[in-house]
Amino acid sequence: MAERETPSAAVPVTPREPLRSRAWFGDGGKNGFIARHHLRAMGRGGHNFDGRPVIGICNTFSELTPCNGHLQILADAVKRGVLQAGGFPLEFPAMSLGEPFLRPTSMLYRNLAAMEIEEQIRANPIDAVVLLTGCDKTTPAALMGAASAGVPAIVLTGGPMLNGRFKGRHVGSGTDIWRMTEELRAGTITQEEFTEFESSLNRSAGHCMTMGTASTMACLAEALGMMLPGGSGLPAVDARRGTLAEETGARAVALAGSDLTPRRIMTRAAFENAVRINAAIGGSTNAVVHLLALAGRLGVPLELDDFDRLGAELPLLIDLMPSGRFLMEEFAYAGGLPALVNDLQDALHQDTVTVTGLSLTANCQGAQVYDREVIRAFINPVLPAGRGTAVVRGSLAPDGAVIKLSAAAPHLLDHTGPALVFDSIEDYLAVAEDSTLDVSAETVLIVRNTGPRGYPGMPEVGNLPLPKKLLDAGIRDMVRVSDARMSGTAFGTCVLHVAPEAAVGGPLAFVRTGDQVRLDVPGRRLDVLIDETEMDLRRSAWQPPKPPVTRGWTYLYTEHVTQADTGADLDFLVGATDSPPPRQAF
Ligand code: FES
Repeated sequence: MAERETPSAAVPVTPREPLRSRAWFGDGGKNGFIARHHLRAMGRGGHNFDGRPVIGICNTFSELTPCNGHLQILADAVKRGVLQAGGFPLEFPAMSLGEPFLRPTSMLYRNLAAMEIEEQIRANPIDAVVLLTGCDKTTPAALMGAASAGVPAIVLTGGPMLNGRFKGRHVGSGTDIWRMTEELRAGTITQEEFTEFESSLNRSAGHCMTMGTASTMACLAEALGMMLPGGSGLPAVDARRGTLAEETGARAVALAGSDLTPRRIMTRAAFENAVRINAAIGGSTNAVVHLLALAGRLGVPLELDDFDRLGAELPLLIDLMPSGRFLMEEFAYAGGLPALVNDLQDALHQDTVTVTGLSLTANCQGAQVYDREVIRAFINPVLPAGRGTAVVRGSLAPDGAVIKLSAAAPHLLDHTGPALVFDSIEDYLAVAEDSTLDVSAETVLIVRNTGPRGYPGMPEVGNLPLPKKLLDAGIRDMVRVSDARMSGTAFGTCVLHVAPEAAVGGPLAFVRTGDQVRLDVPGRRLDVLIDETEMDLRRSAWQPPKPPVTRGWTYLYTEHVTQADTGADLDFLVGATDSPPPRQAF
């Protein structure tokens, strides 16, 4: 990737006339006057309104989202590209979602950000939009909003941080935090070492540099065709990201008013490519929820089982944490996603169209792999095919649950053990350090009421920390089951996204401590081994929990959020929603 020029301006597109923005600026009377003269107040002269395309730059910069803290620099570069290509750039802020700070969880706000971005695009004189994103939820939120708005869009992520460096070795976002936290709890490292590690991990601007959710969603935005080739991998501070930003701005001008809308690009075939690529990169389980939600916005028939079926066709080829050894910097220098796509082209649909006007595979034709340790050949995968995301169903998860096989212990993938059940994550954490806890390596640890509606917001707590008693015994993995998500940087034998969740009366609500639970990944089953009569008795005695909040966004969310197996979007946002420009109100 690094040595290739991007085909950003490779294919001309035919603008549809008139441009959308002419409904605001093209009027010679009062309404056009009002639209134009307020921009003149910002020093924008008449030549900006001569019919050139207006490019919105949707910026998720925020100091409360440190991963996106450098996006203003990229926004300036995008503007240069827009101006050089003859467009008129107008930057606007969008709700920013930062993993480190947002409570109870950033996922509670993904749909809110998507809704805000959709309405901003639709309500304003925008002919095409550049989506500046980075941290985990910002990319899916922006894609969802743009998909619903129906205006041509192109994604530019902020790029990953440089590798962390600690005591002479590379350390990765999240992955090494989980690892080091467990070592601190086990007493194998000191508090001083832990603090030194804290200051060594994040060495530059950018998002997490493991193949966590941010890197995964950047790769999948590129795989879907919504980003210029190579855009997902370049480090945030690599000067070539500035060039990429200029090219992105220029390409947005070419897209303006064309029919290369998100709906035309993100087809079923594009999603199938993205699901396969997600398997090959060892992508985050969060991608399942985000892609399902995004497909739902577009009316594309994507289902949970597609991730298992299509993903199982490809081996894990990228040796990146949390499933492997390296980090995004090495991936970029090894050739990045274009090199992987070039390797995979026979396994991918070749008739998609991307923001370049070419197909994904055409964009990447000839891209070379420069390091076969990082981007493996088919004959030497990190893991064989079928070790990506598996979907299990059964009496404990009738509508499905997911498990990331590349992050799980192989010996636990066919396991039966007694359940140890907690009604909340707080209940479990209150006893996790208790050395007298009745738990063994065979125990199946279950935490419920952590789903979309129950928590609310489906937090990343599914990789439950191991009980201290097991850590002290040298055990580093056990079967864990929840209706929560887990960080894309995390690992462990964690069954996630159980649907229906406990809070809406899924069977997870009825399992009790001591019940035998069977995880049978080869058979794609997750069952609680009690008979149907007993299950019916428990179901009839169940009382739904009271809504945690009765006003505001959280109330709207809990009333309308769908289950994880359909993407946890709001039910009234699902479906094809392209709509005409707003009416003029005066
Ligand atoms: Fe923002 Fe990881 S915390 S990408």
